[in-house]
Amino acid sequence: MTGHLTVVDSDATRIITLTRADKKNALTQDMYRAMAEAINSAQHDAAIRCLVIEGSGGIFTSGNDLEDFLQAGSAGAGLRESQATTFLHALANNQKPLLAAVGGAAIGIGTTLLFHCDYVIASSTASFATPFVPLGLVPEGASSLLVPRAIGHHRAFALLVMGRKIDANDARDAGFVNEVVPPEQLRAEARKVAAEICRLPAEAVALSRQLLKLPAEQLIERIDHEGRLFGERMTSDEAIAAFKRFFDRKK
Ligand code: COA
Repeated sequence: MTGHLTVVDSDATRIITLTRADKKNALTQDMYRAMAEAINSAQHDAAIRCLVIEGSGGIFTSGNDLEDFLQAGSAGAGLRESQATTFLHALANNQKPLLAAVGGAAIGIGTTLLFHCDYVIASSTASFATPFVPLGLVPEGASSLLVPRAIGHHRAFALLVMGRKIDANDARDAGFVNEVVPPEQLRAEARKVAAEICRLPAEAVALSRQLLKLPAEQLIERIDHEGRLFGERMTSDEAIAAFKRFFDRKK
């Protein structure tokens, strides 16, 4: 377990909260490992009917820790050992209804993970960006498959390739946010929606959800294909220069 994440089971809902606010909830290897464990261990626990992922400190997550990217890329290691892949596989294999409560920025995997969710609530302060290409990278997390399917090619291109940021209302209009609420209502709304799902017949929910989703094998195949390209790109001069620019920006 990591000090940068809490997992609390309450009223049949498992709530995973990112708590690395001083680094804008940037995701470390330990955090990915703990998130994967929280999702995987819920699968055969009948007492858990629903999962919620949320941030803290006014941000959802600033995505993968760029220091980790810089170190791995500079060492020529790419993504070979990354726990991000373990987490993405857990998302692809997940069979429980998954909610996200997005308060503030959702960057990189913070946005792509939402396309594995079943219901997304955003605060009016939320924003969504996947700056993979500006960082010299390529989209990950099966987003190249799921995002065009969810919002259409043209909006997917602006988001995933051009790296354009969008706000909560645009995300709702695009169709990957269900509702936008004031920041102070976000946590309560997520718990209310989770309770609504938990009241439904569990087996019928599981079967119906499965009918709506792409098969896990297809998602994992795309995650791994993107992952190989992503790993190669991490060691590229373009990517290493972009990671360094982030840490040099305040100098
Ligand atoms: N990885 C590592 N550290 C990060 C980080 C990340 N993804 N995002 C933020 N941080 C750290 C900053 O380095 C800073 O650390 P410091 O206090 O030791 O200098 C701290 O978190 C606060 O971030 P800061 O940039 O000062 O806050 P801000 O409010 O000005 O901006 C963000 C917030 C999220 C917009 C900005 O930090 C950002 O763009 N982060 C990178 C996002 C990104 O490109 N992610 C990768 C996606 S693939």
